[in-house]
Order: sequence, then C-alpha cells, then structure tokens
Amino acid sequence: MDPEKEKVMIWLERCELLRTMKARHKLLFILCTLLVLCFILYSLWKLQQYKPPAVSNATEAPKGTNESSCKRGYAATMMTANYPRFVKKIPMFLDRNFRLLPKVKDYLPPFGLKTQEKSIEEILTVTKNYKLGNELDSLSCKRCVIVGGGAILSNKRKGPIIDEYDVVVRLNGAPVHGHSEDVGTKTTMRITYPEGAFNNASLYENKSLFVLTAFKPQDIKWLRQMVFKQKLRSIEGFWKSVPVFVPREPSEIRILNPYFIREAAFQLIGLPSHNGIMSKGNTPTLGTVAITMALHNCDEVAVAGFSYDLSKPSAPLHYYGNTKMSAIKDSWTHDIPMEIKFLKKLVEKKVITDLTNGI
Ligand SMILES: *[C@@H]1O[C@H](CO)[C@@H](O)[C@H](O)[C@H]1NC(C)=O
Ligand SMILES: *[C@@H]1O[C@H](CO)[C@@H](O)[C@H](O)[C@H]1NC(C)=O
Ligand SMILES: *[C@@H]1O[C@H](CO)[C@@H](O)[C@H](O)[C@H]1NC(C)=O
Ligand SMILES: *[C@@H]1O[C@H](CO)[C@@H](O)[C@H](O)[C@H]1NC(C)=O
Repeated sequence: MDPEKEKVMIWLERCELLRTMKARHKLLFILCTLLVLCFILYSLWKLQQYKPPAVSNATEAPKGTNESSCKRGYAATMMTANYPRFVKKIPMFLDRNFRLLPKVKDYLPPFGLKTQEKSIEEILTVTKNYKLGNELDSLSCKRCVIVGGGAILSNKRKGPIIDEYDVVVRLNGAPVHGHSEDVGTKTTMRITYPEGAFNNASLYENKSLFVLTAFKPQDIKWLRQMVFKQKLRSIEGFWKSVPVFVPREPSEIRILNPYFIREAAFQLIGLPSHNGIMSKGNTPTLGTVAITMALHNCDEVAVAGFSYDLSKPSAPLHYYGNTKMSAIKDSWTHDIPMEIKFLKKLVEKKVITDLTNGI
C-alpha cells in the first residue's frame, strides 16, 4: 500500500475511534446528568415531605411522649447527688445474660436468683423479649409514673395526668377497670408476685407487660408453669391462692431484675441484711422496688397512690376493695417506717414527683 494512503487510513481510523469515544462520553455525560438531576429532584421531594418535629406547634408532638418537657437524665443526676454510690444504668428485666449480673448467684430470691437459674433460662428461652419494646426503648427521654394502690388516689381524678406519662407502672391487683378517672387507662407494665396477681383473667389489661418480681424460689417455678401453660402442680409455699392461668403471651412476660430489691433494701432504705435471707423487716415493699427500678431506667419519675397513715388503722388502705390500713402492720417482712423515711427523702430532695401528695 502507498505509505501516504496508509497514513491517511490510520489517521481516519483514529478519527473514527475518537468519534465513537466521544459518542460514548456524551452518552455517559447525559446519563450522569440525568442521574444527578433525578437525585436532586428526589431529595427535594423528600425534604418537602419531612416536617421538622415541633416547629412552633407543640400540639403536633406525638401523644404521650411529651419529649419537649422531659428533663433528660434528671432522675439519675438527682440520685447521684443524694446517693453517691448510685449506678445509672441497670437493666429493668432479666435477659439471657442474667448469670453475669453481679451477685445474682450469691443470694436466694428476693435478693438474687440462686437455685432458680435453670427455670429462668427456660422461661427466657420462650419469652424471647427482654425490654420494653421498640417504641418505648427508642425514646430519648422517658417519663415514668408508678401508680400505687393507696386510697389517696380515690376521687382525685388524676387519671388523665397519669395517662400522659410514657411508662405507666401498676402493681399487683390494683385495678384500672372501674377506676380509670382516678388511676388512668394506660398500663405499660404490671409488676406482681404470684399472690398479688389478678385471679380474674378479664382484668389483665391488653397490651401490657406482665412482670414477675420473685420474692421466693417458688415464684419462679410458678411463672415457669404460667409461661408454658402447664397445670399448676402445687400451691405449696404460697400464703394466698394464686392464679392458675395468666392471659399473657410469653412475649409479654418479663422477670424483674432482683438488683432493685437488693439495692432498695440494703443501700437505699438501709434495712438489715440478715445474711441476705428474707426475714423480719428486711424486704422492701413492691412499690419502693418499682420506684427504684424507675430511677435507673427513666429520665423522670413520678408516683401516685403512695401513702401510709399508720395512725388511722381503720382507714381504707387501697382505692379498691376493703382492706384496712391496719393490715400492713401484719407484714412482718417489711419495715414501713424506714421505707416512709426513704420515700420522704426522695420527695423532699425533688428526686421524684408525688402526684397525690401522700408521702
Ligand atoms: C397548632 O395546630 C393546630 C391544629 O393544626 C392549630 O389549631 C393551632 O393553632 C396551632 N398552634 C400554633 C401555636 O401554631
Ligand atoms: C407535658 O408535660 C407537662 C408537665 O411536665 C404538662 O404540664 C403538659 O400539659 C404536657 N403536655 C402534653 C402535650 O402532654
Ligand atoms: C371478672 O371481672 C369482670 C370485669 O370486672 C367481671 O365482669 C366478672 O364478673 C369477673 N369475674 C369473676 C369470676 O369474678
Ligand atoms: C382485651 O381484649 C379482649 C379481646 O379483644 C377483650 O375481650 C377483653 O375485654 C380486653 N380486656 C381488657 C381488660 O380490656
């Protein structure tokens, strides 16, 4: 071939290559531009959809959370100021790592879990849930109220105020049914021991957690039978009849961390340890245990329905039923005067808010 012609051919080939490359570049350029445009349009659309929380209209805050008025870390800060040994985060409920919790192997219930580890393992394998639930666990600031059973709640119409809290804790068989104006309608959890639990299945609030607090080894065995829906084999060791059925799914059942009983008794109230065995005057009442739990897990803690007027033995003890104030003198495991002293300090130092002014 003529060298000149060859040169031209090569030159032409190069041109062709260049042209196709340019075309490809163009295509790429157009595609990229389109993609970027799409992304910008999509982002703008997303931004339009996004409404910043509480932009000047506080009524649009999700009902019940009331986060704007929630003081983050308040309870722990106040506890640390008054009780320097206070440890902030202690899990509410037992999870599969419960054996690693300090001292649980050293004490029998109520102060630990000694001898019951196997039953607990079996229960937790089935319940599979060890926290409050996504909605509450994800709150950045939680306001909790512990509703006691005290007669001081009667006719005070505190129901709507109680319902405003994120977490409403109720105790034993203190009913909602028929008392909602005074005690509210919301129940996040009900903490009970077997003798205190509802015997009437229709009184268990739907969507509430059933939380066992174990005061003795057979309480765990009882829960195991409830979770596995087994026939109750023995009622030995209970001081009162206990339910034979709890209408809750395993996923709605929890076991309270015994840390709170031990801490309330020996560190906060200052009860005698008696070698860590439940005995005369060394076991806190469930109400104080629940408050202790809340102090570790809530940003703000309020109480309602707490009051003990030991000078009026014939006054009603509860807002329901007809138990008299004198009945609490029979509870030899508790030390009510010491407990009142502790609760009064919490109120006076503004660690907790007493909605019914009974403490
Ligand atoms: C908040 O929104 C409600 C209903 O949309 C409206 O009635 C109210 O005036 C608003 N409040 C403020 C402070 O903008
Ligand atoms: C939020 O809580 C405060 C008290 O802490 C109360 O006065 C207020 O009414 C609550 N607001 C809502 C919207 O729940
Ligand atoms: C259980 O409680 C419901 C609601 O208060 C009541 O209607 C029903 O009679 C109770 N059942 C028993 C067996 O006491
Ligand atoms: C719970 O739901 C069941 C079924 O919907 C209903 O029969 C029962 O009365 C409810 N219990 C309470 C305490 O609201």
